Amino acid sequence: MSALTIALPKGRLLPHALAVLEAIGLDVRELRGATRKLIVADTKHDARFLLLKPFDVATFVEYGAADWGIVGQDVLLENESDLFEPLTLPFGFCRIALAARRERAQTDWRLETALRVASKYPRLTRKFFVERGWSVEIIPLHGSIEIAPALGLSDLVVDIVDTGRTLKENGLVELETLGQAQAALIVNRASHALRFREIQNVLDAVKRATRAP
Ligand code: PRP
Repeated sequence: MSALTIALPKGRLLPHALAVLEAIGLDVRELRGATRKLIVADTKHDARFLLLKPFDVATFVEYGAADWGIVGQDVLLENESDLFEPLTLPFGFCRIALAARRERAQTDWRLETALRVASKYPRLTRKFFVERGWSVEIIPLHGSIEIAPALGLSDLVVDIVDTGRTLKENGLVELETLGQAQAALIVNRASHALRFREIQNVLDAVKRATRAP
């Protein structure tokens, strides 16, 4: 049997994800170092790790390039990937919020026309506005969303908010919450069926390590 392949998100969830892997007995020392390798093996425990952009974690797991992974539910909400999500994990808590420039906090946005909304969650953003019957133009971005209103690129933004510092320091205020998210463990559907015992061992160990329900 080949090694289990585990997809990990680079960025803010990575230190928490590595702590989980370490707690279940995997060797993550190389990942904690300054490696530029994108595939790192833990041969002793028959595992290998992929270091990916958060949105790509869901894609690698969905298509079976990884057996399981750790990702934010914001990514799952946006991507609607076909995968198994057996566990939430106790970190990465955030909300997905609509925000505007502080000076425009009192604007009645329903009266505005030709609104532009910048987001790295274009699908969720579209759904939110369609449900309200508002016609908006979505400007898809991949990061630093909060600077778009100050530069006239958009009127509004939809992005994740954790501490709220990024909004505040970029002169934005939260108008509405679109949803809540936290980290989740995801499993490829075929791996779950074909490598059931190994995957179940991982899930049991992660549950014990994180006391997830
Ligand atoms: C995320 C998000 C916000 C920020 C929110 O960005 O897109 O910019 O974190 O966190 P806060 O409320 O604690 O300030 P991230 O750092 O993941 O990078 P990104 O700009 O590339 O999306």
